[in-house]
Amino acid sequence: MVDNHFRPAGFLNIPAPEGIDLVQAIKELKEEKNAVILAHYYQDSAIQDIADYVGDSLALARWAAKTDADAIVLCGVDFMGETAKILCPDKRVFIPDLNAGCSLADSCPADEFEQFIKQYPDHTVVSYVNTSAAIKVLTDVVVTSSNARPIVESFPPETPLIFAPDRNLGNYINSVTGRNMVLWNGACHVHEQFSLEKILNLKKQYPDALVLAHPECKSVILQVADCIASTSGLLEYASRSDKKTFIVATESGILHEMKKNNPDKEFIPAPPNDSTCACNECNFMKLNTMEKLYNCLKYEIPEIFLDEEVIRKAVKPIQRMLDISEKLGI
Ligand code: 13P
Ligand code: SF4
Repeated sequence: MVDNHFRPAGFLNIPAPEGIDLVQAIKELKEEKNAVILAHYYQDSAIQDIADYVGDSLALARWAAKTDADAIVLCGVDFMGETAKILCPDKRVFIPDLNAGCSLADSCPADEFEQFIKQYPDHTVVSYVNTSAAIKVLTDVVVTSSNARPIVESFPPETPLIFAPDRNLGNYINSVTGRNMVLWNGACHVHEQFSLEKILNLKKQYPDALVLAHPECKSVILQVADCIASTSGLLEYASRSDKKTFIVATESGILHEMKKNNPDKEFIPAPPNDSTCACNECNFMKLNTMEKLYNCLKYEIPEIFLDEEVIRKAVKPIQRMLDISEKLGI
């Protein structure tokens, strides 16, 4: 199956007018167009600060599903924009830079995945939201890192499951639930990069520090973590904890919200293996800038378009996730 994602242009490469106050201009355009700005915690601080809502993948999907705005500007990566479009096909959905992809989603091409699931015909397909719309079409239920464990646990233990695309999250859920889900061998280039050695050195330097890790990290990192949770779960834990220092093994954009909520606490980004690059930054997430957000609102481009048939099929596993989550009170 081909991916129906249509990319007319990555972004509009026009410089914003000289001397313009981008914050004010974005606010005015947003009002004028009755648009809502949704941002992920991995976005640049300035984008997080101007967004109407900042959240994790689950929260972004929920806000998209219930907004009464005419247009959604999704400041995140393309699968997040696609999810919003699938949930609100009648609304216009924009993303400041359509080149903002996701290495994890890209690690699971739809044609290969279709062949893979054919080998396990009696299995239920559980897919992480970090997938293309074409993968969602092949999926029975979508999950995010906030609800993956309880949704997997909601299936009777004898129900055989396939989990895609993240092998680290899949392994983690297998280990905490005692299940033996068949895993697709995908990973995120940011979360794969954290260095155990450097984290252990930081722990020696800050003996009271707690390690917070996203479940997309490798199991060696998760083994030394005090809290393993989605971005919103890590934020909640950091705020609730009476500890003062935290080593954070996820994309460094989350530190903005962590520091904002806890000005008296110290947050240290976990270092990547390769110290020559800022590998704990998601280069895709960081493609979105305030200038591109301004252009996106002003010129209404780039927009997400999906084939109607894809939307009709892909909405089912996403809606199933939202329904199960609501039923479980997540
Ligand atoms: P969350 O579901 O925690 O927002 O994570 C999304 C993501 O892309 C992690 O890399
Ligand atoms: Fe995808 Fe990884 Fe970036 Fe998250 S951090 S959007 S999983 S590439």
